[in-house]
This record gives sequence, C-alpha cells and structure tokens, in this order.
Amino acid sequence: MEKKRKKVLVTGGAGFIGSNLTALLCEKGLQVTVLDDLSSGFKHLVPPEASFIKGNVGDAKLLSRILPGMEAVFHLAATSTTTYSLSAPQKYFENNFMNTVTLLEAMRKAAVKKIIYSSSASSYGESGDQFLKEGEATKPISPYGASKYIVEPTLNAYYHCFGIESVALRYFNVYGPNDEQQGTRAVPKWAKAALTGKPIELYWRGEQKRDYIFVRDIARANFFAFKHCIGARVYNVGTGTGVWMKDIIKEFERIMGRKLVVKEMGERPGDPKFAMADIGKIEKELGWRPETDLPTGLKHTLDYFRKKL
Ligand SMILES: NC(=O)c1ccc[n+]([C@@H]2O[C@H](COP(=O)([O-])OP(=O)(O)OC[C@H]3O[C@@H](n4cnc5c(N)ncnc54)[C@H](O)[C@@H]3O)[C@@H](O)[C@H]2O)c1
Repeated sequence: MEKKRKKVLVTGGAGFIGSNLTALLCEKGLQVTVLDDLSSGFKHLVPPEASFIKGNVGDAKLLSRILPGMEAVFHLAATSTTTYSLSAPQKYFENNFMNTVTLLEAMRKAAVKKIIYSSSASSYGESGDQFLKEGEATKPISPYGASKYIVEPTLNAYYHCFGIESVALRYFNVYGPNDEQQGTRAVPKWAKAALTGKPIELYWRGEQKRDYIFVRDIARANFFAFKHCIGARVYNVGTGTGVWMKDIIKEFERIMGRKLVVKEMGERPGDPKFAMADIGKIEKELGWRPETDLPTGLKHTLDYFRKKL
C-alpha cells in the first residue's frame, strides 16, 4: 500500500526562498500547498509538483479552508525589503506581524501544531565585529527588522498557551537562484549588472561584513527544523563566516575573468555594518551545516541569471 504523504503549507512559496524550499520539500516526498498573494513573488517559480493558491495570509476564511489536515506550516510570506520599510513602516507591521497572528489563530482553530518561521538576522540590529549568538540582545534598527522579530516572542506565547510548536530561523544574507525581485538585494543586482556590462552599485564603499548563505542551505535548514520542531526554538542560519561586500565583487570578477565597473553610492540608512552568524547552536541541536561555499554558490547564481538574459 502507498504511504500517505504528509501535507504542509508554504506561505510565500512563490518568492525567492519559498520557491527553493517548496522544491526541496517536494523532493523529500511531502505534499506541498503554496499560499502566495504574488505581491513580490512569481507563479512561474512555484514547482509544478506543488499546489498553488493565490491568496493572502491575512485571509482567515481562506486559511480555515486550507489548513485542516496540514502537518506543519512553513511561514515565509512577508514584505521583505529593509530599505522600503523606512517609507512604509505600518505596512510592514501589518503584513509581517498582524497577518502572522491571523495565521497562528487559524492554525489554533484547525489544530495545526507546527510552524517553521522565516525570521531574520535583522532581529539583532547593530552588532559590532563579533559572530552573533541567539542569546544576544535583539535590538532591530529598521521597521522591517522589528516587524520580523516581534513574531518570535509571539511564537513563544503560542507554544506556552496553545501548544503550537515552532522553530524560528534567523536567516543572515540569503542569495541564489530564483531571486527575481526588482529589489535592493546586492547579489542578484550585481549578478545582473555584471552579466549585462552595467556598473555595480556599491554602498558604504563595500566596507560591510556579512554572512552570505546559499538558498539551498536555507531550504535544508527548514527541513531539519521541520524534523525537530519541538517547543519554541530560535536558531541562526548562516555560514559562520564573514565576507566584506567589496570581496563579493572580487569573487564575481574572478568567476567572470574580467574587471567590473563599480559605482559608489555612499551611505544607506537601516544597514548595520556587521551581521555574521554563530551557527554553533543549530549545528549542535539540529545537526545542520551549510554545504555550499561562497564561490560555488555565486557561480550557480551567475549561471541562473545568465540563462534568464
Ligand atoms: N532574502 C533574505 O536574505 C532574507 C533574510 C532574512 C529573512 N528573510 C525572510 O525570508 C522570507 C522569504 O524572503 P524572500 O527573500 O524569499 O522574499 P520574497 O519577497 O521573494 O518572498 C516573499 C513571498 O511572500 C509573498 N507574500 C508577501 N506577503 C504575503 C501575504 N500577506 N500573503 C501571501 N503571500 C505573501 C510574496 O508575494 C512573495 O512571494 C521572508 O519572511 C523574509 O523576511 C529573507
């Protein structure tokens, strides 16, 4: 007799990370439904093996129809650009926080007991030149960071009061295929500029240190979290190494075998100087480690955008 496949919901599954995660969950044999309002995602990114529902996470009636029988929710739907959150903060709190509360209420009513939440390193705020640990103070410096972070204590409350178990994964800088937004993220913008001979726009003279993690590793971390979703936990997801932004350009130059034109853009508010993960906790407790190094990941990213030209 065929084994019954577990059903899971991926909110934001038509987005950059969500579509990569959906592909991995389908590979793992789960029956995946994607819920996405396509506000910043694209239907063509959703793998054909998954079911797609166009709709909003804030729509309680729709959720009451979708959620019964789900084993878990992977919650990625969010308004996700730091820079724009400075011009429309309320929108960020409504979508990233209030709509998550609507989702949690719907889960409670439908008796869905597990949620894997895409949190963010922007929960920490300014950090100094050290690798951040989960126990560190959380002092977000942008409305985006604040709107992502406040979900974490809310998940804790939903575990203690209603038994909904959760893993919040604080992603550092994610890059890789399917990042098709016309947003402000450096790696896809730079990859497209490098491939089309346009100048690479560089802020802060590239003197910011970041922890760049390949999207497939983020998807894997979500799967590990699903397997170990007990209590209300929080983990960093990064590589545990830092790279200067200006060195990413050097890596692109090395892969492409030519010098790239750089345009200095000055400073940009809401950007911390450092953001690097200590990943000891997720390694120890979930057994997850990143598999793709930066040169390999950047090459995959360039190959992806080259095919799209
Ligand atoms: N990309 C990164 O570097 C990064 C870093 C830290 C955390 N995150 C988090 O990871 C998650 C995914 O980010 P991403 O980079 O894939 O962004 P993305 O914008 O590509 O994906 C978000 C998806 O959610 C959908 N969406 C937004 N609001 C919705 C709503 N109310 N109802 C239904 N769908 C909705 C969008 O259409 C989009 O497809 C987000 O929660 C983001 O905050 C991303």
